[in-house]
Amino acid sequence: MIIRQASDPGGSEITPRSTYLSRRSLMVGALAMAGLPMTGRGADAALPNVAESGFVVNETRTSLENITHYNNFYEFGMDKDQPAKRAPGRLKPRPWAVKVEGECGKPGTFDVDDFIRQSALEERVYRHRCVEAWSMVIPWVGVPLGPVLQRFEPNSRAKFVAFQTLFDPEQMPEESSRLIYPWPYTEGLRIDEAMNPLAFLAVGLYGDVLPPQNGAPIRLVVPWKYGFKSIKSIVAIRFVEQQPPTLWNSLAPGEYGFYSNVNPTVDHPRWSQAKERRIGEFLRRPTLMFNGYGEQVAGLYAGMDLKKNF
Ligand code: MTE
Repeated sequence: MIIRQASDPGGSEITPRSTYLSRRSLMVGALAMAGLPMTGRGADAALPNVAESGFVVNETRTSLENITHYNNFYEFGMDKDQPAKRAPGRLKPRPWAVKVEGECGKPGTFDVDDFIRQSALEERVYRHRCVEAWSMVIPWVGVPLGPVLQRFEPNSRAKFVAFQTLFDPEQMPEESSRLIYPWPYTEGLRIDEAMNPLAFLAVGLYGDVLPPQNGAPIRLVVPWKYGFKSIKSIVAIRFVEQQPPTLWNSLAPGEYGFYSNVNPTVDHPRWSQAKERRIGEFLRRPTLMFNGYGEQVAGLYAGMDLKKNF
């Protein structure tokens, strides 16, 4: 059993919601007013009152150093070390607006802190499997995606959810050229995937606010899919009727499917997906179907040919 149920916190450990919220907004507001870069590395950047969750994979956690210095964030360059060098200081995670629109009853534009304020922060330790056949184990802090989306009252035409990253070449230097990549970065989920309890919006990792290179201030985490589905630095969420175009799928549909569920039996046209390199380990390990989350998500794809709908 990969996901264990953490024991419930005792009553004395539970901070009243109002205290938690006011402390939190004070902390976030103070950091924003001080103009701090929110790199997520200092004691000031710790997120208070993060609840334990039942979503904890019982495997060695990848080091903070590796999680924050081995990144894919093409808006800051294609090399793994470039996001850590170029995103802090350039990317301004506060103030940050998130627009919600499309097929829903309550669209609007929200400050990122208000956006997540109504949900309690929790920690989830998830496997993270990149389509490039490397993986990590990351302790994210954030809120479940489904309940956040429900607040906007998606209607019956909302069959998919589209997500979009910031487009601002001043902050994201590689966006100044659209020769290769059709910026902004876009991703999407089917609505039932988005509502699955595993789908998560991360605002922190290792207990601190999310570092810029990991997608500050808010990013998606869908642990049963290849990492590129977990779009960073989100500014727009759209409820739509048709499957939305996504960056990697529109660039190379034969290599990056819309679903992109982790699947060791469907190879990438240029490499095998049967094994992966866990960052920090020497030997390659077998890749698990749905990245080990089959019990939670296999039902979403019942009756679907996963080789065709890769
Ligand atoms: N989101 C944006 N906006 N731009 C990107 O280049 N890379 C994706 C995904 N989200 C990417 C993105 C890929 S390929 C992966 S593996 C993960 O982010 C990497 O997340 P990490 O750097 O936090 O490990």
